[in-house]
Amino acid sequence: MGQNIECLDLEVLEVLSLDGKDFFRLRLSPPKWEWNTGQFVMIRPLSWSYDPFLPRPFSISQLDNEKLEIFFQIVGKGTKLLSQLKNGDKVKVWGPLGHGFKIDLNLPILILAGGMGIAPFIGLVKNHPHPEKLELIFGHRRDLSCYPINELSKKILIWTVRDASQRDIERLKRAIQVKVEGYSSEGQILACGPLPFLNMVHNSCISKQTQVQISLERPMACGIGVCLGCSIPGPSGENFQTCKHGPVFKCEDLSTVCQQIKGIY
Ligand SMILES: Cc1cc2nc3c(=O)[nH]c(=O)nc-3n(C[C@H](O)[C@H](O)[C@H](O)COP(=O)(O)OP(=O)(O)OC[C@H]3O[C@@H](n4cnc5c(N)ncnc54)[C@H](O)[C@@H]3O)c2cc1C
Ligand code: FES
Repeated sequence: MGQNIECLDLEVLEVLSLDGKDFFRLRLSPPKWEWNTGQFVMIRPLSWSYDPFLPRPFSISQLDNEKLEIFFQIVGKGTKLLSQLKNGDKVKVWGPLGHGFKIDLNLPILILAGGMGIAPFIGLVKNHPHPEKLELIFGHRRDLSCYPINELSKKILIWTVRDASQRDIERLKRAIQVKVEGYSSEGQILACGPLPFLNMVHNSCISKQTQVQISLERPMACGIGVCLGCSIPGPSGENFQTCKHGPVFKCEDLSTVCQQIKGIY
């Protein structure tokens, strides 16, 4: 992976609910790491014993001298328990993990994010020296107040599409296709979101010449390439481990995975 991975006990500085229910910002005491947009950490509170047993992976949203920040949505037992952490609790964290996005700061960048797929891009927008070069299409199911989008809208152009119905999904698909066309001669396209969203991005981008990078979320147990639990088929029959070879892949490397995705998009 070309860099050191550390395993540390970090202190919870803040657990804040964005919507009073399911969406949270977690701030931890900051490790001294170099990191890239798209890299992630594995988190396991010291209070966990056997159920749940495994750590959970989360994108690094921001890491500076004050905090390591992640955003998450409650989807099961692990994230429910994370939401109940209190200031001062200790969590085991290992990272920074995986290969992030390869970003050219001089090129215009189109970000395509679905739901919590916005999380890895928070730091990119906040830290980019030329935020006017970035624009974002954000597809979301829940109210916008659930997502950390407010601060971003002060810095970059954002197109939000709420995909509550089939008609909305068609609008989102069309918006992505039109924008992708605009970036087909110059610029980068970066995407993250649920599998059906990524499938739509893949289908819209695969025939274009643009550099398209997609961050893939798979269930993970170790995050460091040991358990093989996150293997996916590559386009030529080889196996990729999402945690080690990704989570960010070139669009064309995900063709086999995308053919297997069934979804509403
Ligand atoms: C590299 C990476 C970065 C991630 N970043 C974020 C983030 O920034 N914010 C965020 O909210 N979530 C993120 N996730 C997803 C997050 O790890 C899962 O939502 C979490 O592990 C679920 O744990 P749980 O115990 O609450 O749910 P579980 O009880 O384990 O599962 C509940 C449901 O979620 C599904 N699920 C579980 N793990 C994953 C996964 N890794 N990917 C897709 N579906 C899963 C299960 O199939 C099941 O349907 C990321 C995942 C990966 C691999
Ligand atoms: S999560 Fe263990 S190999 Fe990827």
